[in-house]
Amino acid sequence: MFKRPPLLSAASAADFLHLQSASVEFRKVSKNYGETSVLREIDLTIAAGEVVAICGPSGSGKSTLIRLINQLETLSDGDIFIDGKSTRALNNRTLRRLRSRIGFVFQQFNLYAHLTAEQNITLSLTHVHGWKREAAHQQALALLARVGLADKAQHYPAQLSGGQQQRVAIARALASSPQIILFDEPTSALDPEMIGEVLQVMKDLAHSGITMIVVTHEMQFAREIADRVVFIDGGAILEQAAPAQFFRSPQHPRARRFLQKVLDPLHAGAES
Ligand SMILES: Nc1ncnc2c1ncn2[C@@H]1O[C@H](COP(=O)(O)OP(=O)(O)OP(=O)(O)O)[C@@H](O)[C@H]1O
Ligand SMILES: [Mg+2]
Repeated sequence: MFKRPPLLSAASAADFLHLQSASVEFRKVSKNYGETSVLREIDLTIAAGEVVAICGPSGSGKSTLIRLINQLETLSDGDIFIDGKSTRALNNRTLRRLRSRIGFVFQQFNLYAHLTAEQNITLSLTHVHGWKREAAHQQALALLARVGLADKAQHYPAQLSGGQQQRVAIARALASSPQIILFDEPTSALDPEMIGEVLQVMKDLAHSGITMIVVTHEMQFAREIADRVVFIDGGAILEQAAPAQFFRSPQHPRARRFLQKVLDPLHAGAES
């Protein structure tokens, strides 16, 4: 009897369920808001397990770039391949599966104020990922211990410092054991003395196998932890290099100017 051949178009839900390694590849990705072009033909390949720091001036398109990966924004043109598979035109079920493989940490933590640290984590596991209550509880406690907050499980966000809240948010992003974690300026809403504890958690996570893409102004993180720095300005990647090279001798004049401003704001001048 004639058998219909499998469809080769959009990736199936099962593909993202069994995601093993997690490379991310942008191919000619563009994003427009109406008439405004925000990202222009971005080509960027990130290897599974790699730690990439994305930096660039305000408004250059950094947040948009990483929000496209888990489709918090829809792309206007091009395609993003995850684990070698196209992520265009996914059905709802496949998109949910893909998102469960990707953690996202926001600048403003985005914790639920009426839930404890533990509940912020278990809620996502039981409601989004279909875990049983007891397994979710155990996972939440293990994750809170991993970010150094074993004793804060029953605290509400208002009872936690900014640094502690952000560590809960990181634990929540790790809850479903994602293969990719995206950070959008995770320390820029924090008081200076709390930045270190969050960076330490990120440092412990780096090179553990998870693919890490971090939008950051923390040049120390970029310099010491990232495998690669990607510099973006005006919606285009102007330079990418190993941190040692990028910080020692940035090639693009705009990258040089940006670094001068970030590293030595008093003497960088007003010109942008
Ligand atoms: N929903 C939107 N509608 C219209 N324009 C937008 C929208 N979101 C972002 N933009 C514009 O797209 C550009 C890139 O924004 P994006 O947030 O990606 O920049 P960014 O590099 O993350 O900046 P910052 O460092 O300030 O966070 C900006 O000019 C911004 O005004
Ligand atoms: Mg941003």
